[in-house]
Amino acid sequence: MDSYAVCLATPEQDAEARKRESVEWGVGMTLEQFSEREDMLDSQPFARNGDGGRRRWVLVPKGDEETLDFLAACETYRRKIMIRHPENEIPVTAISYSIASVFVPAQKRRKGYAAMLMKLLHGQIQPASPPSIGIVEETGRYGKDGILSFLFSDVGKFYEPLGWHVNKADQLEWGMQAIISAKAPSTTAVTEADIPALATADESVLRQEIAQPAPRHLGGPQAVRFTLSDPQGLAWRWSIARSKFYASRAGRSPTVWGARVEGLSNAFAVWAYNYQPNTLELIFLRLRFSSREELLALVAAARAAASKEGLKRIVAWNVDLVAAGVADAENPTVADAERLTSELAGANLVTRTSKSLPCIAWYGAEHGGKVDWIACEKGWWC
Ligand SMILES: CC(C)(COP(=O)(O)OP(=O)(O)OC[C@H]1O[C@@H](n2cnc3c(N)ncnc32)[C@H](O)[C@@H]1OP(=O)(O)O)[C@@H](O)C(=O)NCCC(=O)NCCS
Repeated sequence: MDSYAVCLATPEQDAEARKRESVEWGVGMTLEQFSEREDMLDSQPFARNGDGGRRRWVLVPKGDEETLDFLAACETYRRKIMIRHPENEIPVTAISYSIASVFVPAQKRRKGYAAMLMKLLHGQIQPASPPSIGIVEETGRYGKDGILSFLFSDVGKFYEPLGWHVNKADQLEWGMQAIISAKAPSTTAVTEADIPALATADESVLRQEIAQPAPRHLGGPQAVRFTLSDPQGLAWRWSIARSKFYASRAGRSPTVWGARVEGLSNAFAVWAYNYQPNTLELIFLRLRFSSREELLALVAAARAAASKEGLKRIVAWNVDLVAAGVADAENPTVADAERLTSELAGANLVTRTSKSLPCIAWYGAEHGGKVDWIACEKGWWC
């Protein structure tokens, strides 16, 4: 490992990495179309925001840092989080990095390059000594200030021995049958223009939530708790932009990107559409509700939107089954399958084991507890 280094990519290496990875993430597209998608995503505020946005990293032999024959590459996004530490119960802001697009070309695989890239990447993200929680120094530099990093693994537990621990990865899925619930409240449609205000309101509710100690099954008072801090909804807007790119290829132009429960409720949903022929699903980016009726109302609105878009199913990550009234607060991850289906409008509970597994690496001081990720939903994926 001493002969290799992980460096920020030059613009030429970034372009080369994009070309390489198009075989994986640009399936069904020409290189030009894939490039168009990537340019469009790079132009989103999420990818170029003042906190740092997207950067590419490459694994290179030492002394040949600018080579275009680099061995492996990945991307990171610098992201603010709210965090509650057992020793400092008031939630504070800190820096995290999400990692995406880990890629090794086929002819260089199974030589340990991805593992080496990831091991060395820790050193580019975390400071030399554990960072002070709550102090977000604007160093003007990218990296070496993260209290944690996270990624969504498409290769199962590959990242576990490299330091990223798998987080809960449950999802609820619904087919397209109609929901009949006399008690479900009315909803109004959410458009793109509504997103920033919804994100700001959600941030303040999350801030209150994170001020509370974790429930016992998630580590209790000893757990560190964190949640993404994105009061302008930049990550949701990035996902929506991505969704619109595919919508236009499918000849669609959706305008509804979520739903809000009417009245004084905080309940709302933001979603994206996936038009890939083998997927055809609506996925919730964020789903906030506090009762079964609110959840059913939001799912009903999602079903109507999905049906209009010709989609086949609806998916929500890590739904709060206690708030949904189908699990016990003492053991909230176990919901009886039949009860769940009958009480949640035909929902099916699935645990993802291979694709999009959320994984976390913690760089703060040892705290003897768990790291509890609040609202670990699709909206933070990249
Ligand atoms: C996954 C990937 C980055 C691994 O790169 P690599 O340099 O070959 O990885 P390493 O040599 O460090 O480790 C190889 C190990 O990766 C694991 N691995 C590779 N592909 C895997 C997959 N699809 N599912 C689970 N594990 C996988 C295996 O354990 C393999 O060990 P083995 O050779 O004994 O079977 C590479 O295969 C790749 O670029 N794939 C396409 C893009 C991709 O899926 N990226 C991951 C996105 S989260």
